[in-house]
Amino acid sequence: MSVSLDTRYLKDFVSPHEIEAMQQQVDAAHEQLHSGKGLGNDFLGWLKLPAEYDKKEFERIKNAASRIQKDSDVFVVIGIGGSYLGARAAIEFLKSPLYNTKRKNTPDIYFAGNSISSTALSELLELCEGRRVSINVISKSGTTTEPALAFRIFREYLERTVGAEEAKNRIYVTTDKARGTLKGLADREGYETFVIPDNVGGRFSVLTAVGLLPIAVAGCDIDALMTGAARAMSELSNSNLDKNDCYLYAAIRNIMYRKGRAVELMVSYEPSYAMMSEWWKQLYGESEGKDGKGLFPASVVFSTDLHSLGQFVQDGSNIIFETVVLIDKPQKEIMIKEDPENVDGLNFLAGKTMDYINKKAFEGTVLAHGDGGTPSLVIRLPAANESALGYLIYFFEKACAISGYMLGVNPFDQPGVEGYKRNMFALLGKPGYEDEKVGLEKRLGR
Ligand code: PA5
Repeated sequence: MSVSLDTRYLKDFVSPHEIEAMQQQVDAAHEQLHSGKGLGNDFLGWLKLPAEYDKKEFERIKNAASRIQKDSDVFVVIGIGGSYLGARAAIEFLKSPLYNTKRKNTPDIYFAGNSISSTALSELLELCEGRRVSINVISKSGTTTEPALAFRIFREYLERTVGAEEAKNRIYVTTDKARGTLKGLADREGYETFVIPDNVGGRFSVLTAVGLLPIAVAGCDIDALMTGAARAMSELSNSNLDKNDCYLYAAIRNIMYRKGRAVELMVSYEPSYAMMSEWWKQLYGESEGKDGKGLFPASVVFSTDLHSLGQFVQDGSNIIFETVVLIDKPQKEIMIKEDPENVDGLNFLAGKTMDYINKKAFEGTVLAHGDGGTPSLVIRLPAANESALGYLIYFFEKACAISGYMLGVNPFDQPGVEGYKRNMFALLGKPGYEDEKVGLEKRLGR
């Protein structure tokens, strides 16, 4: 397995028989998932996606990406939640969180439509001034307010700056294959469109055009990404916990939850992983947090956050367990040199690499947190490359489905997301929400 689970730091917290006892439930969850008879079974398209994706569309994605690389200085990706997090996470992980500030022969990539902040959107528009811009609007429903608002503004910007006809060549739409306002608009205007398959939910969609087009525009190898995911698909299909680290991860999370560890803290030692943690938080939070149940997914980057949240993890309430993602080989390395004056007293590190020191920080931390009562499991990745990432994405998606079924929830719906939308629409005076508006205004004391 190119991604593996290291459970050695759990031994004071979970005994082997507790893991053995989970096998039956894991088998049941595996059966539910693979028979397609479990809750939310309309949304299992991601399960076989690495083998069964649309190869023709995949080629179209690569062609569009190389066109965008040639004719654009800026690529604006408009989407929210599952229609944005995966692409941004992959680009930051594979390229850099500083991707836009680096010298490169691919466009800057900015993400819009993931908030309703007028300041954020205005700043993005300012960044686009005088540059060649293309847009990818991504929305499965085609009606989500945040991206719809940003798209309205960016479309008007493009039409005003390059003219209505040229704007058509610079707008790419990723949406449902047949339904929705966005699809209707794309067909009417002749925008190039890509499909979010019916049976793939937003947070499971990074390996569809949703993630693949922006990831390819950034210059990442999407063939290798899919190959890594396909490898995970074939290796992670045995329900035996001794042979499947993905299922073992799901089982251990469940054990932790039952022991009152209601917060899973995703830890990485690379800032480039921070957005991957954001993607993972949506995947698990939206899939499991329902019916009054679920682990709360949180994240930190160490050693940065050891200087802010480290105190709590070490000594605070015993509600946390840590899942540490460790990358064996860093993308870049720095060697510490001897300093003849040794004013900082760091000569004992001369000849060592920064990554060696980073790994020692991990070892010191994992032992200290264990002593303080916080268990850790470790997910090891060989390197920060496309094939390892494809594997990891599939690993987390499948563990999430198994984990959700073990918890007794539907891992593929998100009914709770609608609450704020209804209230917001009513308060904004959207037609059809008049009755709700009166009640809400009263509650707000107006
Ligand atoms: O996982 C999900 O389903 C959500 O996060 C959606 O991706 C998000 O709400 C955006 O929805 P849409 O793609 O319909 O605009």
